[in-house]
Parts: sequence; C-alpha cells; structure tokens
Amino acid sequence: MNKQLKLKLEGISATYSTGEKILPVLDNVSLSVDTGEFVSVLGPSGSGKSTLLKIAAGLLKPERGKILVDGRNMTGLSRLVGYMPQQDLLFPWKTMRQNAALPLISAKLDKKETKARIEELLPVFGLQGFGEYYPDQLSGGMRQRGALMRTMLIESDLLLLDEPFAALDALTRQNLQEWLLKIWGHFRRSVLFITHSIDEAIYLSDRVYVITERPGKNAFEQIIDIPRPRSKSVTITPPFSHYKKLLLEALADNTAAGTK
Ligand SMILES: Nc1ncnc2c1ncn2[C@@H]1O[C@H](COP(=O)(O)OP(=O)(O)OP(=O)(O)O)[C@@H](O)[C@H]1O
Ligand SMILES: [Mg+2]
Repeated sequence: MNKQLKLKLEGISATYSTGEKILPVLDNVSLSVDTGEFVSVLGPSGSGKSTLLKIAAGLLKPERGKILVDGRNMTGLSRLVGYMPQQDLLFPWKTMRQNAALPLISAKLDKKETKARIEELLPVFGLQGFGEYYPDQLSGGMRQRGALMRTMLIESDLLLLDEPFAALDALTRQNLQEWLLKIWGHFRRSVLFITHSIDEAIYLSDRVYVITERPGKNAFEQIIDIPRPRSKSVTITPPFSHYKKLLLEALADNTAAGTK
C-alpha cells in the first residue's frame, strides 16, 4: 500500500432513481490524490462530477466501488472532510464570523478556541474587518473566500472543492486562483478540485483527470509538470499550451457535441 496516498476512489459506479426512472451517473470511475497533491477533475456538465465529490465526502453511497482515505476503507462511513459544495451555502441570516463557526460548533470545539481560530484566519482570507458582515453585504469573491475559509477551518487535511469559482467574473476568478495557490502552499492540504475550466485545472493542479459524458467514466489523465510557485504568466508559456491542447482534445473526444 502506498503510504503517500491520501484518497483513493476505486471503481465507483452510481445511479439515481427518481420514481420509475433509473439514471446511471458514474461508471467504474477510479482516481487518487497523493498527500499534499492538488488534483482536478474536468468533465462535461452533468457527467457526475458533483456526485463523485459527494461520494468522496461520504454524503452519498456509491452503488459499487471503494473509498479509501489514508489507506483505510471508508465506504459508507460518514467522515469529517473539508467539503465545499457547488453552491457556497453561507446562511444569509448569519454574519461571516457566525457562518465560519458552524462546522466548528458541530465538531463541538471549544467556543474560545473557535473564536481565536476565526480571528486568525479572517486576514489570511482577505476578510479582516468583515467578520460582522452578512453574506449579502459582501462581494461574490468575498463570499467564496468566506465559504473556503469555513471549509479550511475543518481540521481535515483533505479538501474537496466543487467549482468554487465558477460563478465569478474572469478577473475575480483569476485573482482567487492565484490566492488559492498561495493558501494551498501555506496549508499544504491534499485537494480534489472540480472544474469546467481547462485553464483553471492546468494552472492549479499537479494532475488532471478527464471524465466522459454521463455516465462518467475515466477518459484521460495528465500530469502537469510545471514548476511551482506558478505565476499567472505560466498560462502563456508553451508547456501550458501543450497541456491545454491535450486536455481540449480529451474533452472533445468524450463529449458528444465535441464543443467543450
Ligand atoms: N439528487 C439527484 N437525484 C436525481 N438525479 C440527480 C441528482 N443529483 C444529480 N442528478 C443527476 O445526475 C447527473 C449528474 O449530476 P452531477 O451534479 O453529478 O453532474 P456534474 O458533472 O457536477 O454537472 P455540472 O458540471 O453541471 O455541475 C445529472 O444528470 C443530474 O440530473
Ligand atoms: Mg457539478
């Protein structure tokens, strides 16, 4: 057993049943994340990416397959992981500080300790002075940083992030990508990151998986061998274009419309 392996999903298949209808969503998908590695999953809309992440988070049981965390079989067990769903899910009636405290309260952490941890992290996440603001008083980028802060407050060295920047404008998204890399360099957690954006996947990741249209199957895997730290200017270098071409082709080959 590889000791460095943080997460392994092995032969995951999943279906949803609604009434009479059975919808196959994932078909024998396998992937892994090494300790400290940043891994992305790219795939067409509806290919089962969010479903895969929910399965990794222990929120959904797969029909078949195994989930191993630190080499231990976690299939069917609920576990505390840093999971950020596709919608940020900050409660509008709670301030940023109260929102951030929620996972710590449910983990029954000491109140004083909770407060100290949040105070420490507000400036790291660019939210100093905004702890008492409600979500609708913050910008979209600030809300996403707040939701990420809440996710990072969970003492799990595995982060599962579902398209955290998808709803943002291009400039804010770029800034947050750079910022996420800095934070990741600082905390060095293992990350499984879902995205639609090829550029985002290459810029952030050590390795990228491509899955096919629904039912999602493994289609392609690419190591991104670009040295870190990465500045935004790597996105206009030949190695970046090379990876982009490979991933574009893999996505086109595995999307019926061939337009992704
Ligand atoms: N709770 C549910 N009940 C029934 N079907 C569902 C449920 N959740 C998702 N699905 C279906 O499963 C398929 C995959 O959904 P999923 O959200 O995993 O895709 P995705 O790859 O994350 O898509 P996107 O890129 O648009 O976020 C879709 O066809 C969706 O309609
Ligand atoms: Mg999704």
